[in-house]
Amino acid sequence: MKKRLLTGLQPSGELTIGNYCGGVKQVVKYQDEYETFLFVPDMHSITVPQDPETLHRRVREIVAMYLACGVSPEKCHIYIQSEIPEHANLSWILECHSYMGEMSRMTQFKAKSEGKKEIGCGLFTYPILMAADILLYSADVVPTGADQKQHVELARNLAQRFNKKYGETFVVPEPLIPTIGAKIRDLLDPTKKMSKSAENPKASVFLNDPEKAIRKKIMSAVTDSGESVVFDEENKPGVSNLLTIYASFANCSVQDAEKHFEGARYGDLKKEVADVLVAFLRELQEKYRAILASGAVDETLDKGRDEARAIAAPMYDKVRRLVGFGRV
Ligand code: TYM
Repeated sequence: MKKRLLTGLQPSGELTIGNYCGGVKQVVKYQDEYETFLFVPDMHSITVPQDPETLHRRVREIVAMYLACGVSPEKCHIYIQSEIPEHANLSWILECHSYMGEMSRMTQFKAKSEGKKEIGCGLFTYPILMAADILLYSADVVPTGADQKQHVELARNLAQRFNKKYGETFVVPEPLIPTIGAKIRDLLDPTKKMSKSAENPKASVFLNDPEKAIRKKIMSAVTDSGESVVFDEENKPGVSNLLTIYASFANCSVQDAEKHFEGARYGDLKKEVADVLVAFLRELQEKYRAILASGAVDETLDKGRDEARAIAAPMYDKVRRLVGFGRV
């Protein structure tokens, strides 16, 4: 039997090239090797305010984008989190086995809640829902960018804690962080990660950006002092980020990228990064538009929902019996 791989990308904004590198690209790479689960975590998205119409639209768009990126609906289970009620049910049980202390250490919660007056409880407990997403399907590996590693660690801890108390139930998942592109950085502030929800859209390249915008954003990306194009994340985070983007989209190693740009100037580097992105995204966007206009999204989601429920329902049933819910 194949091992299982599972991941999801929130439909809380347009996907960026960072989301592609940390999430979707890895799914495409591994979908033959693993039984693959790729879902739309729409329940996670309402941890911050959302416009309902926009959220509906983005759920469909993100699935079209998964398919355009090369995720195969024949090979993968592609589904919407909220269409499988067992995610929320399991999340509650796990929440009752989680501690305030460990949740308070989540760096993403600290970052997302910083400076906010009203912080939703969902933002605090969201990593537990993420653990439920993973454990419900007995996932062996969870590909994500570096920012989600701590959340996968929590899923591991909760699985081990539960297994110890009730007997072997959950698979303890492993994070799978890519060697290149685990943290694509913000183009205007390379000390931060590139984000879907960045305040300034010039800081992120979105998978749906038109050519002109892509070129403009890359050409105005913040670089560092000095002139040489070398990979040095500490002293040259801006240049290192551009080299990483180049390597990710030209499908080469960072060392090869560095060699390629030996003696080049920052302007040359930016131009080639923009070229490689434009070539990749132009083709992607053509496929995306065709998929969105076809019936493929609904077909994919209907099939994925049925496949996912067939796995999630018996797993939840097992867990709720173990904790003593309802009638045996
Ligand atoms: P989300 O929607 O913030 O991000 C989706 C994926 O993109 C990765 N990522 C990045 N990778 C490289 N560079 C970046 N700048 C960058 N920004 C984001 C993320 O690490 C992620 O892999 N909680 C998750 C969604 C989720 C999930 C899950 C993932 C819910 N349940 C279960 C895996 C398993 C999230 O908010 O990802």
